[in-house]
Amino acid sequence: MRALVVFESVAGNTRIVAEAVANAMAKHGRVELVEVAHAPTKIPADLTLLVVGASTQTFTLGRGKDARDTAGQFGQRGRTLAEWLDMLHVPLGYAAAAFDTRVKKAFLPGSAAKTTEKRLSNVGFKIVTPAEGFIIGGNGGSLIPGELERATLWGGRLGAAFARR
Ligand SMILES: Cc1cc2nc3c(=O)[nH]c(=O)nc-3n(C[C@H](O)[C@H](O)[C@H](O)COP(=O)(O)O)c2cc1C
Repeated sequence: MRALVVFESVAGNTRIVAEAVANAMAKHGRVELVEVAHAPTKIPADLTLLVVGASTQTFTLGRGKDARDTAGQFGQRGRTLAEWLDMLHVPLGYAAAAFDTRVKKAFLPGSAAKTTEKRLSNVGFKIVTPAEGFIIGGNGGSLIPGELERATLWGGRLGAAFARR
């Protein structure tokens, strides 16, 4: 397996989840973890699996300029995940999966992972497992107990499924 985990993170939660996912996947093959500013826009021909992680912002995936404006840090980081998804070139049928971080509040529905999944699907990726969300406590807090372990399990299962590919 050759896998790429691409993530976008401002406050660090999505980075922590991405690291846990990538570490668990790495038990089953070669895994590269990259922040979106450094992610390739041309998917390597021998890639077996792409995993994309983002934080949920205003009910969805932070959009280009909006995300930059709300977070204030994307400008310095080069490009947003939404912009990267727009730039992706990929032959049809490559495997992909998406996750996000989000808070769990009745008045805050929505999922960056579901939007990412749709966007990946639209450019030709085959989604191999449903979008998954990992929960942040409070307002701008950190991952609630158990979520890091769940991220490790999620990554481990994905890695195991692709170990021989
Ligand atoms: C501007 C902004 C908007 C947000 N909007 C939502 C939202 O609509 N739904 C949600 O579940 N979480 C929302 N959140 C919470 C983030 O998803 C959460 O804090 C996430 O962990 C941030 O990821 P990061 O630490 O990797 O930057 C928002 C956070 C920010 C800063």
